[in-house]
Amino acid sequence: MSDPAVDARVALELLRKYDRPGPRYTSYPTAVEFSESYTEADYRGSLSAADGAADEPLSLYVHLPFCEERCSFCGCNVVITKKREVSAEYLDHLHREIDLLARHLPNRRRVSQYHWGGGTPTYQSVEQMRALQERVRSHFEIEPDAEVAIEVDPRVTTPEQMDLLKEIGFNRISMGVQDFTPAVQEAIHRHQTEEQTRDLFAYTRKLNFHSINLDLIYGLPLQTPEAFERNMEVVLGLRPERVALYSYAYIPWVKSNQKRLDATLFPSPEIKLQLFVLAREMFLEAGYVQIGMDHFALPDDELATAMGKKRLHRNFMGYTVKMGSDMLAVGVSGISDVRGAFAQNEKKLSRYYDAIDLGRFPVERGYALDRDDLIRRETITRLMCNLWLDTTAIEREFGIVFAEYFAPELAALSAPDGPVAEGFVAIAPDHLEIVGLGRFFVRNVAMIFDRYLESRSGGKPVFSRTV
Ligand SMILES: C[S@@+](CC[C@H](N)C(=O)[O-])C[C@H]1O[C@@H](n2cnc3c(N)ncnc32)[C@H](O)[C@@H]1O
Ligand code: SF4
Repeated sequence: MSDPAVDARVALELLRKYDRPGPRYTSYPTAVEFSESYTEADYRGSLSAADGAADEPLSLYVHLPFCEERCSFCGCNVVITKKREVSAEYLDHLHREIDLLARHLPNRRRVSQYHWGGGTPTYQSVEQMRALQERVRSHFEIEPDAEVAIEVDPRVTTPEQMDLLKEIGFNRISMGVQDFTPAVQEAIHRHQTEEQTRDLFAYTRKLNFHSINLDLIYGLPLQTPEAFERNMEVVLGLRPERVALYSYAYIPWVKSNQKRLDATLFPSPEIKLQLFVLAREMFLEAGYVQIGMDHFALPDDELATAMGKKRLHRNFMGYTVKMGSDMLAVGVSGISDVRGAFAQNEKKLSRYYDAIDLGRFPVERGYALDRDDLIRRETITRLMCNLWLDTTAIEREFGIVFAEYFAPELAALSAPDGPVAEGFVAIAPDHLEIVGLGRFFVRNVAMIFDRYLESRSGGKPVFSRTV
C-alpha cells in the first residue's frame, strides 16, 4: 500500500469539518454499551463454548495495574500506591483467577498472543514476575512463535528485570515515552530523562528482543511542531521496529486525574494535526510504513507485511498478526472477548478480591453481540486495520448482500459532501477502500457503520476527538 504525502493545509481544512468525538474502535460495540445484564454465569457459558474450539489458539492478556505515581495525562486503568504489600495481595488473587480460568478451559490451552499490560507491569519485582509467569505456564502452553509482549516504563525498569523478561520468554518490549520535551513532561507530571529511555533501549537491544516499540502521544499540553521534530529525531535515531503515535485522548469526565492538566495549554486542533502530519512525514522518509491510524513499523516488520496482504488484526492489545480466536483477560478491569461476547472484570480492587475469594469470576459487566453487531464489528475492524474491506468476504461469512444490508451506510458514504465525494473512500463492486487523506478520518468512516452512535451520547461527550 502506498503512503501518499499529505498537504497539511488541505488536511487542516478537512479537520475543521470532521474533528468530532468518536470511538477508537478497540472494540465494537464500544465499552459504553457494556452492561450488568451480562453476568458471571454468562461468562462461564462463553468459556464453555470457547473450550469446544480445542484446536484454536487463544490470546491472553494479564493486567498489572500498579504505578508509583499517576501521570496526569494517563487514561489507563491504574492503581497508584508505593505500598508493595498491596500488589502482593493483588498477585495472590491474580494467580487464583488464572487457576480458575484454566479449570474452565480443560481442552483449550494454546496461546498465540500473550501480553502483560498496565499500569506498569515492571512495578512488580523480578521474583513476582517470575512467579506469575510460572503460574501462567503451569496451565497454558505459549506457542514457540507466539507474540509475547510487555509494557515497560523506562523510569522504573531495571536491567535485571529485562534479563528476566528475556529468560522467561518475552519477545516484544513496548516502552512508554510520550514526549522527550522537559516542559511537556512537566505539564503532564511525567519526568523521564532522555537518558533513561536511551539506556533502557540500548540494554533491550543488547538482549536481542524480537522487537521494540515506543509509545508517543501527540496533542499533549505545550507540544509544538519544533519540539516534536526533535522528539522524532531522537526516536528515529533509536530506530525501534514499531512506534505507536497515539492521538491524546482527553476524557476528564471519565479520568479525573486529567483534570490536573491545564486545558489552556493544549495545542489547537490545527497544531495537533500538524504534529501528526510532521511525524508521519518523518517516519515515511525514514522508511517506516504507516499501520492503520496511528502506528508505524519498519517495512520488514510483520505488521507491515500483514498490512500489505490485508491480514492485519486489532484487539484491545493493539495491532497484531497472531490474534487468537478468543481473547481472555485476567486482572482488575481486564476485558475478555470470548465467543462473541465481551466480559469486563471489576475495576475496583476490593470487588475484584471479593469475587475471587468466593471462587467466582470477577465479571462486572459485559455484552453479548447479536448477529448485526458481529457483521458491523467485522466491517469496522477490517476497515480500521487494513483500510480496505473485501465486501464479498463479509457477504460469504454472514450470508448477506452487502449493498442491501448496508444500503443506508453506502448512501451516507456516497452523499454529495460525504466521504466518497471528499476523496476518502472508493467503492467498488467487491470492496471498499480508504484512499488519499481518508486514512486521517478512518474513525469518521467507521462511525457511519456504528449502529449505536446516534442514540448513545444524548449530547454529552462520551469519546475523545477523532483527530
Ligand atoms: C499502560 S501505559 C504504558 C506503560 C507504562 N505505564 C508507561 O507509562 O511507560 C500504555 C500507553 O498508553 C498511552 N496512553 C495513556 N493514556 C493515554 C491517553 N489519555 N491518550 C492517549 N494515549 C494514552 C501511553 O502512550 C502509554 O505509554
Ligand atoms: S502513563 Fe503509565 S506510568 Fe503513567 S500513570 Fe499511566 S500507566 Fe502509570
